[in-house]
Amino acid sequence: MNELQLIQKYNVPGPRYTSYPTVPFWKKLPLEPSEWLNKLELKMRQGVQSLGIYIHLPFCESLCTFCGCHKRITKNHNVELPYIDTVIKEWNLYQPYLVKGVQIKELHLGGGTPTFFAPSALKRLIEGIIDNKNLHKELCELSFEAHPGATSQAHLVELYHLGFRRVSFGIQDYNPKVQKAIHREQSFELVKEVHLSAKGLGYRINHDLVYGLPFQELDGFSDTIDKTIELMPDRIALYSYAHVPWIKGTGQRGYDEGNLPQDKEKRALYEMAYFKLLKAGYISIGMDHFALPNDSLSKAFKNKALHRNFMGYTHQKTDVLLGLGMSAISDAWIAFAQNNKTVEGYQNQIAKGELAIFRGHFLDEQELILRRHILDLMCHFETKWDPSQAAQGFYDDIKIRLNELFTDQLMSFDEEKLSILSKGKPFVRNVCMAFDLYLARQLPNQQLFSSTI
Ligand SMILES: C[S@@+](CC[C@H](N)C(=O)[O-])C[C@H]1O[C@@H](n2cnc3c(N)ncnc32)[C@H](O)[C@@H]1O
Ligand code: SF4
Repeated sequence: MNELQLIQKYNVPGPRYTSYPTVPFWKKLPLEPSEWLNKLELKMRQGVQSLGIYIHLPFCESLCTFCGCHKRITKNHNVELPYIDTVIKEWNLYQPYLVKGVQIKELHLGGGTPTFFAPSALKRLIEGIIDNKNLHKELCELSFEAHPGATSQAHLVELYHLGFRRVSFGIQDYNPKVQKAIHREQSFELVKEVHLSAKGLGYRINHDLVYGLPFQELDGFSDTIDKTIELMPDRIALYSYAHVPWIKGTGQRGYDEGNLPQDKEKRALYEMAYFKLLKAGYISIGMDHFALPNDSLSKAFKNKALHRNFMGYTHQKTDVLLGLGMSAISDAWIAFAQNNKTVEGYQNQIAKGELAIFRGHFLDEQELILRRHILDLMCHFETKWDPSQAAQGFYDDIKIRLNELFTDQLMSFDEEKLSILSKGKPFVRNVCMAFDLYLARQLPNQQLFSSTI
């Protein structure tokens, strides 16, 4: 079967597996804050040393129509301080449940647009969360997402002083026609200026690019990749455009689906970028990510230490990830919990002195095993069978579901492990789907996921 036939065969709706079970299959709705806190305490008793913190800062001044993130569009900056103070209050609500001495190893500001907030508001936030005692001195990595058009020198300087050393810029595409269609006009000159300022201060930089956007064509996207290589960010996330208008209606229904590159055209965009980036010296990491060889993600990939969570790939794993802010997800490995998805709902709940959790999931033994396999596959393109489970027939059904991928020579397996072959790497999500009991048991009647390619 040639590549086009493979793409046509395997390009089906599928999850991105930033969690297992994936969010649409979570069972706890509603989830009471006390139930979540019981699970968190249980995890703490099992021995937790490191903590990751994700803070969702949802505001953006203008809507990019392709965007699949949880955001609130506003030009009113009076929303900043009430929101920041709510996040600090939420953090304080967690304090009695965290073991003494637990250290923050990772803190990420995501959005929305964190740099929507004034530098002074971000300072207030960070100083309300971290102190000399709770921060891991050597290992803690502080990072933030930034819209180049909304990032001033003052933002970069203030966040650097606060300890941030990584910034991720949303680029998407430099082509004017594509930028117009997604309602996000930003010139290469503007990005270059902000990029060089950040680099000059000592930041390590990521650029987010998206392939599969409306009107994207090979020539134009090739130019975007050339411009990206000219700036040589340490990392590049090359995301497949997730078209989910049934969830993100307003924006994503703003363009004609006929203008979206499909199957073969979409894959050609990725492959062109892939080969250009490899030629420029980048290493391909996990799914959709590239990094320079001296970057910590490349090293973690080589040492099989790569990890994946709701923020994407990370070079280190934390025992617990706490999500603060509207829509943020927390992960205690044995349980997930998500915050209210509206700004008002989130703020009102915290104002009452309660966590703003509204749904989640508690993992049973079988799910914990499957979660480990899916994480291994997404991070290392291979996973080892558990011999005692294998003896009890645990993998029999999974092997049946993998059969076609095996016949198509996308993967190999023996008594010990399953490995995805290089031809199969674009289909890693399809391999994971064979381990996904929820997909196997009940395909939900409504469409939930974007396409795997
Ligand atoms: C929160 S935004 C980045 C920060 C900032 N708001 C900005 O736009 O520059 C996170 C990233 O998610 C990616 N993204 C958003 N919607 C997407 C979609 N529908 N499909 C694929 N990637 C998407 C984009 O690459 C975007 O840069
Ligand atoms: S892409 Fe970034 S700036 Fe645009 S709407 Fe989404 S979160 Fe906001």
